[in-house]
Amino acid sequence: MHLLPTVSLFLAAAATVMAQVTFQNSSQTILRVDTGSYGPEIEEFHYYYQQWPIGLAVSSTGRLFACYTRGNYSFTLGEAVNKTAEVPYPSAELNLPVSQLNTSFNRIPFGSSNASGLISVQALYITPQTSSRPETLWVVDTGRPTVMDASGTPSTPYGQPGGPKIIGISLSNDSIYATYTFPPDVHYPDSYMNDIRFDLRSSVTPSGQGIAYIVDSSDEGRPGFIMLDLGTGESWRRLTQDPSVLRVANDVPSYQGRPFYQRTNGMPVGHLREGADGIQISPEGETIYYSPLTSDYLYSIPALNLRAKDDDPLAEQAAHNNISNLGQRGGNANGFEGDSNGLVYQLVPEHNAVFYYDPADLQTHAFVRDPRIIWPDSASVAMDGWFYVNVNQLPYQGAWNGGSEGRVFPGAVLRCRLPRGGRKIGGLV
Ligand SMILES: *[C@@H]1O[C@H](CO)[C@@H](O)[C@H](O)[C@H]1NC(C)=O
Ligand SMILES: *[C@@H]1O[C@H](CO)[C@@H](O)[C@H](O)[C@H]1NC(C)=O
Ligand SMILES: *[C@@H]1O[C@H](CO)[C@@H](O)[C@H](O)[C@H]1NC(C)=O
Ligand SMILES: *[C@@H]1O[C@H](CO)[C@@H](O)[C@H](O)[C@H]1NC(C)=O
Ligand SMILES: *[C@@H]1O[C@H](CO)[C@@H](O)[C@H](O)[C@H]1NC(C)=O
Ligand SMILES: *[C@@H]1O[C@H](CO)[C@@H](O)[C@H](O)[C@H]1NC(C)=O
Ligand SMILES: *[C@@H]1O[C@H](CO)[C@@H](O)[C@H](O)[C@H]1NC(C)=O
Repeated sequence: MHLLPTVSLFLAAAATVMAQVTFQNSSQTILRVDTGSYGPEIEEFHYYYQQWPIGLAVSSTGRLFACYTRGNYSFTLGEAVNKTAEVPYPSAELNLPVSQLNTSFNRIPFGSSNASGLISVQALYITPQTSSRPETLWVVDTGRPTVMDASGTPSTPYGQPGGPKIIGISLSNDSIYATYTFPPDVHYPDSYMNDIRFDLRSSVTPSGQGIAYIVDSSDEGRPGFIMLDLGTGESWRRLTQDPSVLRVANDVPSYQGRPFYQRTNGMPVGHLREGADGIQISPEGETIYYSPLTSDYLYSIPALNLRAKDDDPLAEQAAHNNISNLGQRGGNANGFEGDSNGLVYQLVPEHNAVFYYDPADLQTHAFVRDPRIIWPDSASVAMDGWFYVNVNQLPYQGAWNGGSEGRVFPGAVLRCRLPRGGRKIGGLV
């Protein structure tokens, strides 16, 4: 249903009283009004009623997968079974019980080290079928749940080897066929794997089985990139604490027109602290785009500089020297996606919008904006040429509002058509 902009604004306000959408009655005005929307028509594709989602991925056959960070949720990876419900995927048993998510040594809290169970899944990505690999749902388990103490103060324990992991699930047989864990000098205890992209070309690693580029957004201050050779399981870091991956100190974004400060129980009034968050690979595989959550700047680095390993003593130096600052975009951004035209989509919670950077004209452009996009969090371009985006109202979650939960179900997957006949990037084989 296509609503008139003023009507949809009113409905959005009515449905999200807790979400503090500003609404003034301007029905009688003679002045020009910002409708809050532009771009292609949006469809409400799926509603979340049980758990607030973080990541999503849509398969070649239209299956919708979602993940949810934990917390006390009973499952952390799910598949939609109809328009209003998801069930644990690939099985309920794969999810560690909430009581086993965290542990402690010498009173230092750690996440579980269980490498075969799911702890807290942050991100999903689907790679198309290749000659040597089925269509695969890749799962990023941070191994770092957010747990509450008895007084309701949330904390995120350190990761320990085994817990933080990448798993590959074949969408042909719905079975895990690969699991990768990380040594503690690659995934630090305070690392947080936020998102992942792939290059499955045989030429990019000696093993010939492709590579994963993972962005470590560490709130604690050591963000950077983690690379993973999918053949050998070897992993290494690049650009740790380069200025381009660090958070912008004391960032104050605004959501729904209101300046935002993070209010966490038991802590002083503060700010979001995430470093490098959005990541995208160019269609031919040779450029990696990225940005911290708390910055307005977009950066890129040649993928070859991330692929270089520590046996090259200049690898880290060369990577630092080869970063490009692609300029500001006009707002903070979290998740990225990309398409066959090389456009780099960037989710912009401050504007309830998605922008894209076009390498052809070196500028960031408006793609789609809508008052329903209250915190876009993760996008997925599917083989069908649709752009899918999660909406999860994150700024209203209790953990950012002194324990007062302000989100109102349902969350949603919205979708719209890609511009210029764009398609999923699929030729990296
Ligand atoms: C807006 O103002 C008009 C004219 O005064 C009035 O008829 C209408 O009921 C108002 N709408 C709301 C939502 O208050
Ligand atoms: C999880 O915790 C939240 C906040 O404390 C609470 O409102 C909710 O009922 C809990 N859910 C479950 C399944 O325990
Ligand atoms: C959607 O699936 C859920 C879980 O299987 C079920 O409880 C619910 O009744 C279904 N809703 C519709 C509209 O089919
Ligand atoms: C898990 O974390 C919570 C919150 O900090 C704590 O109360 C609980 O004791 C921890 N569990 C273990 C087994 O350490
Ligand atoms: C790891 O978690 C899985 C899923 O919950 C469980 O089946 C398995 O027994 C756990 N392994 C260990 C060593 O606890
Ligand atoms: C599922 O498919 C993967 C990849 O083709 C394969 O390695 C694995 O053995 C299969 N597992 C089962 C249980 O069929
Ligand atoms: C910088 O990147 C370019 C590719 O864009 C590459 O040709 C060059 O070797 C890189 N420089 C260094 C010092 O790594």
